[in-house]
Amino acid sequence: MPLRLDLIAAVSENQGIGINGRLPWRLKKEMAYFTRLTTETKDPSKKNVVIMGRRTWDVMPKKYRPLSNRINVVLTSKDLILGDEALVCKSFPEALEKLSKIPLTDKIERIWVIGGSSVYKAAMELPNFHRLYLTLVRKYFECDTYFPPISNEFHLVKDPEVPEGIQEENGLQYEFKVYEKA
Ligand SMILES: NC(=O)c1ccc[n+]([C@@H]2O[C@H](COP(=O)([O-])OP(=O)(O)OC[C@H]3O[C@@H](n4cnc5c(N)ncnc54)[C@H](OP(=O)(O)O)[C@@H]3O)[C@@H](O)[C@H]2O)c1
Repeated sequence: MPLRLDLIAAVSENQGIGINGRLPWRLKKEMAYFTRLTTETKDPSKKNVVIMGRRTWDVMPKKYRPLSNRINVVLTSKDLILGDEALVCKSFPEALEKLSKIPLTDKIERIWVIGGSSVYKAAMELPNFHRLYLTLVRKYFECDTYFPPISNEFHLVKDPEVPEGIQEENGLQYEFKVYEKA
């Protein structure tokens, strides 16, 4: 069975995800949640994949990239060479095809789509798309990058790995929610 894709994003009340190539907020615990979910595997011999757009890769501080203990995939139309740091692919089908190649596929537990905007949109349209892990930040933020519209095929589910209730940090409230494609 092909691996399913999950998406993880932090989204403001006005659906914003970024401004000037960075996150609109600074939430350390929220970032730790992102790291935990995208890194942890049930099988210690396996790793997770993180798929991102070229801009998200570019704007990530160099000290954080490639994202550690995860297989990094960058989507771009350009002929980028990132060596051992990341697998560069021109589309989702190309990325999934490369990741499905033995022996790589045996080493993968989950595939996480980590943004930005058009990458999230393309992922949600894939037949093997599974879940949205959204952090809903309860504030309006000035943004220049937005989360794409979510179709009504998605419904709220519970995940034991995801804390429930309102979280609070730096005077900001946010909530972790998980939606699954019907
Ligand atoms: N809040 C969050 O959870 C979150 C998460 C991630 C990012 N962000 C923020 O979002 C912003 C960056 O996101 P963005 O939407 O501007 O850019 P992005 O999606 O990271 O990158 C866009 C680029 O990715 C490539 N690309 C996108 N879809 C593709 C596809 N299906 N196939 C092949 N290539 C594809 C193209 O690269 P080429 O132009 O090279 O062809 C495109 O120009 C930053 O502000 C960042 O901080 C926020």
